[in-house]
Amino acid sequence: MNPKEWLDQRKETEKHLPIVMVTAYDAAFASIAADAGADWLLVGDSLGMVVQGKGTTREVTMDQMVYHTSMVRNGAPGAVIVSDLPFNSFSEAGMTVKNSRRLLDAGADAVKFEGAVMAQAAALREAGIPFMGHLGLLPQSAEKFTVQGKESDSAAKMMEEAALLEKAGAFSIVLECIPRSLGGNITRALSIPTIGIGAGPECSGQVLVLNDLLGLTEGYLPKFVRKFADFRSAAHSAIAAYGEDVRSGAFPDDAHTYH
Ligand code: KIV
Repeated sequence: MNPKEWLDQRKETEKHLPIVMVTAYDAAFASIAADAGADWLLVGDSLGMVVQGKGTTREVTMDQMVYHTSMVRNGAPGAVIVSDLPFNSFSEAGMTVKNSRRLLDAGADAVKFEGAVMAQAAALREAGIPFMGHLGLLPQSAEKFTVQGKESDSAAKMMEEAALLEKAGAFSIVLECIPRSLGGNITRALSIPTIGIGAGPECSGQVLVLNDLLGLTEGYLPKFVRKFADFRSAAHSAIAAYGEDVRSGAFPDDAHTYH
């Protein structure tokens, strides 16, 4: 469903609730996330790191985003799905529209891009393609993964960019890794919802990388991540138990054998 329609159709009794967004990269987890009540799914280019095992999102290609978007749509036919425009796929307006259409054709309802690139925003609006902005920490261009907008001039610039994106037609903006007060100030200044990731509780909603919240990610996690489960150790135990039973001859037993 188009996220603008989703926002318009939201029940009066639910409008005050924060929007729950989570990333999804394949059909199985998209289906679980939709069943578990996530409002919006994000096919994030974070897949470069958590699925492909690379140190950056910069190598993710349009073909890969199309592939993952179609898997997510297969797993969650009724979900609101937003897909990231990967690095170098929205360098100018015409290219942005063409690549966004590929994501919509693959099953996305809307696209997201990093930064206040206003010619691209105007072209998407003109083409009738719903889009989400992304401000604060921008993983595609960041040199250091640190909190953004701590100084008054960078905070003011972000406020300005958020207002420009709203004016250009964004239906929502992701705010990543900024102080709580700035997340709150931007949220109050806009009439479209903000979705925070490390932007504090005053945003209109929250997004987390699925692998991080499930506890699948190994190693360092930013302060804003909470592990809501420990899938890594559950998966480790299950695979180790399987290995033990295969090696001891306990699996396959009669109950798992055809006669
Ligand atoms: O790619 C992604 O997962 C994202 C989130 C961090 C918002 O853009």
